[in-house]
Amino acid sequence: MLLVKTIKELQNLLNDSRKFGTIGFVPTMGALHKGHLSLIKQAVLGNETVVVSIFVNPTQFNNSTDLEEYPRTLESDLELLETTGCQIVFAPNTKEVYPEPDIRKFNFGKLETVMEGKHRPGHFNGVAQVVSKLFDIVKPDRAYFGLKDFQQLTIIKEMVLQLKITVEIVACPIIREKSGLAMSSRNELLTDEQRKNASLLHKTLLTAKEQKGQKTVSETITRVIEMINRNPFLNVEYFEIVDDEQLQPVKNWNEKSSKIGCVAAFCGDVRLIDNIYFN
Ligand code: PAF
Repeated sequence: MLLVKTIKELQNLLNDSRKFGTIGFVPTMGALHKGHLSLIKQAVLGNETVVVSIFVNPTQFNNSTDLEEYPRTLESDLELLETTGCQIVFAPNTKEVYPEPDIRKFNFGKLETVMEGKHRPGHFNGVAQVVSKLFDIVKPDRAYFGLKDFQQLTIIKEMVLQLKITVEIVACPIIREKSGLAMSSRNELLTDEQRKNASLLHKTLLTAKEQKGQKTVSETITRVIEMINRNPFLNVEYFEIVDDEQLQPVKNWNEKSSKIGCVAAFCGDVRLIDNIYFN
């Protein structure tokens, strides 16, 4: 496994690799966990060369404390990556990715005015900036993203269409801790007690799905928020049930679309997200 920090070094390596087959790419912000490892595993199975990037992208944080506190664990990340079969780790610094400020403004229409887009203004513009830059640098055949960040995945697919990038976007399932808590780098910031309580997010979504036949969409939304907020460690920012293509709120269970319930909640200062398909 090779660690490279500059675009030039990376592209020299990839010029050779491309002759031997496809390039799979897993962009990350580090603090790797089993969720990332499952993306990398899938990339290793499907491609001759796998590149993992580790870059905490400043432009996608709309809160400077969140950016400062984001866990940075390069050494242990590299140890974990050694076990995965990925060949190249790209860990650039900010100047390498942004030699000049990126002033591009993307327009994702309705996709970015709900849920994460509504509560974290500018977040998806920053994600699109960095992911488009990374795609341009790596030129992967396939790129792997987790379904936990469902809205991010939808926006990245839209960005690829808008910019006409030829890359296959592969969606990978949510990986959970034994308690049901969705794996996230942010879980590292939780105390043991918070972590135990945070598993209520998934449990509540499961219950809501089970009871779907007995409640309307709006009753389900109210109930989920109540159940989570009743726990003193948790505070819901939003829970929405949306269609899985346009991400617009669903009113009735009998609407044709596939429906996904997405939640964001604070556990102490740590913001967690999760989701569940309702069909
Ligand atoms: O999901 C993430 O970790 C980040 O948003 C990504 C896709 C690596 C872009 O910085």
